[in-house]
Amino acid sequence: MSTLRIGILTGGGDAPGLNAVLRAVTKLGAGRHHWQLVGVEDSFNGLLDDPRRLVDLTPQACRGLLVRGGTILGTTNRGDPFAWAWPDGRVTDRSAELAAAITEEGLDGLIVVGGDGTQRIAARLMATHGVPVIGVPKTIDNDLADTDFTFGFWSAVEVATEALDRLHSTAEAHDRVMLLEVMGRDAGWIALYTGVAGGADCIALPEIPYDVERFVHKIKERARRGRHFTMIVVAEGAVPRGGSLGAGVDGSQTTKVKAGSAAQTLAELLEARISGEVRTTVLGHLQRGGGPVPYDRVLATRFGVKAVELVREGRWGEMVCLRDNNVTSVPLVEVSQAPRRVSPDEPLLATARAVGIELGG
Ligand code: F6P
Repeated sequence: MSTLRIGILTGGGDAPGLNAVLRAVTKLGAGRHHWQLVGVEDSFNGLLDDPRRLVDLTPQACRGLLVRGGTILGTTNRGDPFAWAWPDGRVTDRSAELAAAITEEGLDGLIVVGGDGTQRIAARLMATHGVPVIGVPKTIDNDLADTDFTFGFWSAVEVATEALDRLHSTAEAHDRVMLLEVMGRDAGWIALYTGVAGGADCIALPEIPYDVERFVHKIKERARRGRHFTMIVVAEGAVPRGGSLGAGVDGSQTTKVKAGSAAQTLAELLEARISGEVRTTVLGHLQRGGGPVPYDRVLATRFGVKAVELVREGRWGEMVCLRDNNVTSVPLVEVSQAPRRVSPDEPLLATARAVGIELGG
């Protein structure tokens, strides 16, 4: 078999572990199988820009990458080749141009490391233009339906749990209600795991619109027991019952959900009902930055190795995934479009309730 020339890119929001995937793919693909590995900068954009932005990935270029946060290739969640938004406001389909660039660069296929949006683009590229693709899923939100876990999630939970631990002591010292807002617009996995890991008293999830009176009851019941502080984890997509994402306390709608608005909304609702002090902390991108925790390093390495195996077996059009702790794959066309949300029968919800965590509904 002649030497393969494979492109690899990272797309969507970054997640700790992206560099570990690049390292694993390069070590095995370039180091062992002697492929030429071409990194495409900033998602698909590096192939569409003039001049093209491509880098050779060699084992030497990947030294120290296992523990490094971000992605050495850069990434973006703008730049859908099927709906390319130009600065002057035009939106055009540049997917044929992208497919032509892949051919011109002599690439035998693309490994696409990204979230649901990026995987959708990859599947469409293959279906529409016959570009051979392999998908590797990532998101800190852990809300991809076809894999039990995505790398980056446990790193985010680690940061968020440490934040909750730190807030705990100052909340107790000042007798305050502390709200910690974590990421998760559609799914509350980070909030749920952080809340359980950090011993929160209340958790507000996007999947369970909350009755604020239940949180108030929890705060007052704790005070009666001499616990004059309360820890609440709020997912950025959490809404009060009857409210909607982007709705202000007064019911006014905003067009974009701003980081911090979920915690702010709940804080204002609480302040109107209790006499104690309420403080909010918005963790934001701190939970996405930095290096991966060991679990994510291992998972990213397993995913990278599996991606190379799929290429070797010619199983184009598949996405790597984790099922019952086995790394396997699923056809990209079967990858669910909808986010995997925390379902009412999620066992961790029952665990949370069992240890007295109020979920607001
Ligand atoms: O999907 C990952 C995620 O971190 C979400 O949890 C969050 O809502 C979003 O990205 C933030 O995106 P951006 O970095 O574009 O503000």
